[in-house]
Amino acid sequence: MTEPCTYVIFGATGNLSRVKLMPALYHLEAAGKLPAGTRILALGRRRWDREHCVEEVREWLKEKVRGSLDDAIFDRFARRVDYFQGDLKDPKMYTDLGRRLDDSSEFPPNIAYYMAISPSEFNGVVDRLGDARLFDEGPGWKRVVIEKPFGYDLESAQSLQRSIGRHLREDQIYRIDHYLGKGTVQNVLVFRFANTMMEPLWNRNYIDHIQITHSETLGVGSRAAFYDGTGAMRDMIQSHLLQLLTLVTMEPPVSMAAEDLRDEKVKVLKSVRPISPKAVHAHAFRAQYREGRIGNDRVAGYLQEENVPPDSVTETYAALKLYIDNWRWRDVPIYLRTGKRMARQQSLISICFRHPPQQFFRGTQVERIKQNWVLLGIQPCECLRMEMTVKEPGLEMRTRQTSLDASLRDEDGADTDAYEGLLLDVIDGDRSLFLRYDEVEQAWRVVDPILRSWSTNRDFIHTYQAGTWGPEESRRLFDTEEHHWRHSLDPD
Ligand SMILES: NC(=O)c1ccc[n+]([C@@H]2O[C@H](COP(=O)([O-])OP(=O)(O)OC[C@H]3O[C@@H](n4cnc5c(N)ncnc54)[C@H](OP(=O)(O)O)[C@@H]3O)[C@@H](O)[C@H]2O)c1
Repeated sequence: MTEPCTYVIFGATGNLSRVKLMPALYHLEAAGKLPAGTRILALGRRRWDREHCVEEVREWLKEKVRGSLDDAIFDRFARRVDYFQGDLKDPKMYTDLGRRLDDSSEFPPNIAYYMAISPSEFNGVVDRLGDARLFDEGPGWKRVVIEKPFGYDLESAQSLQRSIGRHLREDQIYRIDHYLGKGTVQNVLVFRFANTMMEPLWNRNYIDHIQITHSETLGVGSRAAFYDGTGAMRDMIQSHLLQLLTLVTMEPPVSMAAEDLRDEKVKVLKSVRPISPKAVHAHAFRAQYREGRIGNDRVAGYLQEENVPPDSVTETYAALKLYIDNWRWRDVPIYLRTGKRMARQQSLISICFRHPPQQFFRGTQVERIKQNWVLLGIQPCECLRMEMTVKEPGLEMRTRQTSLDASLRDEDGADTDAYEGLLLDVIDGDRSLFLRYDEVEQAWRVVDPILRSWSTNRDFIHTYQAGTWGPEESRRLFDTEEHHWRHSLDPD
């Protein structure tokens, strides 16, 4: 079994720790996956002690665990938890922390520092940990988990990397994108590389276009202060959707080892055709939700949300058309879109195949044969569906769409949370589902021209009614009149 480690969680009193990290660690405890001796040192500035921290965690878990909280498992889990009080900005805190960790009878010397703190603090905390020699290895490895976003644009990502690179080797840095921890996202790789059937078809000769959609029904809620400075392009497209794009379009890697996998993902991002400032209008679209209805509830528009400036042009909807200039994909349009307050909560990859080269059934009821689609549902329904055209029974030549359905899990099925697998990967030293720096940098290169253009064009933004699929005008991105947004798994 893997050696035990100490998880030092910076920002352990915050939201991420409450809703994701502590529940994930508890579930790992329940599954018997945490190596014996593993400890969790929760670090916060609140004047808590260990007992208070454990009680808080118990309350968080009551709300968040699958099923109900098991007292025996919680007691085992609680014995691993300790609390360390300090201010991130105080250099003395780091020497005190070092002394506390040095008591190796208590804390294993393998240490994973988890940055569950504001991105503006990543740099300073890594600097201070480095200055206090808390990354020195031997005994034990030292690793750092960095939450997204890694940078705010290309320049800030480069600067953050330069700064943390002074203290850490690349193999010590775990840049997390929890989307990659989702089972279905990994299933994209299985679907592509464990089934030979699809591989000969997976290219520009057979595929007409690809769509990747992540839609949410939620608005910005209490996160407006953060969101207004970020927007949908940074929050979703630069990270999650470009990651999905790489998995769908990459070449088969030499092996599933982290570096081989990441080499192929980077090649895709490097092959994305750059969008010149003049082409931004044709390739990217942004919009903001106005008031509308989600189910039976009337909901406010973005500009009416708390903490949103009345003249904000931050996009809550973003759509993007990309081309990958390589042998496999040249000239196949790839449409990415994401939005808040949309008609449905889902993530879906839709692959549309070309029309058959000849329309054989002219002069019959079948005027035009529909295109085949392969649909990969990421959430809430984890599934894989292939749509085909078949003849209806009877004397007449009529067709209908049917689908081969390989559902993995329905909307209600219990599953592990992405953070569980990722937290374990950090202990195991498996970086395949974490982002290497060149991936992050290339992803910023893809969206940077758009962000620059949008930041200077602040006079106008399209709007869409909350609860809809976004503005009709986004159709301007389509290569042909025939293309349309694929909204759901249901037959088109
Ligand atoms: N929340 C999510 O679901 C989510 C999802 C994906 C990524 N992320 C990323 O995760 C990170 C954390 O997000 P979050 O939502 O958890 O933020 P948050 O709720 O604001 O938590 C921030 C944490 O940092 C602590 N902190 C701030 N200044 C400090 C200081 N000077 N000294 C010591 N501690 C200090 C806060 O302590 P106090 O409690 O004392 O204020 C709190 O524990 C961010 O990088 C975010 O982008 C979050």
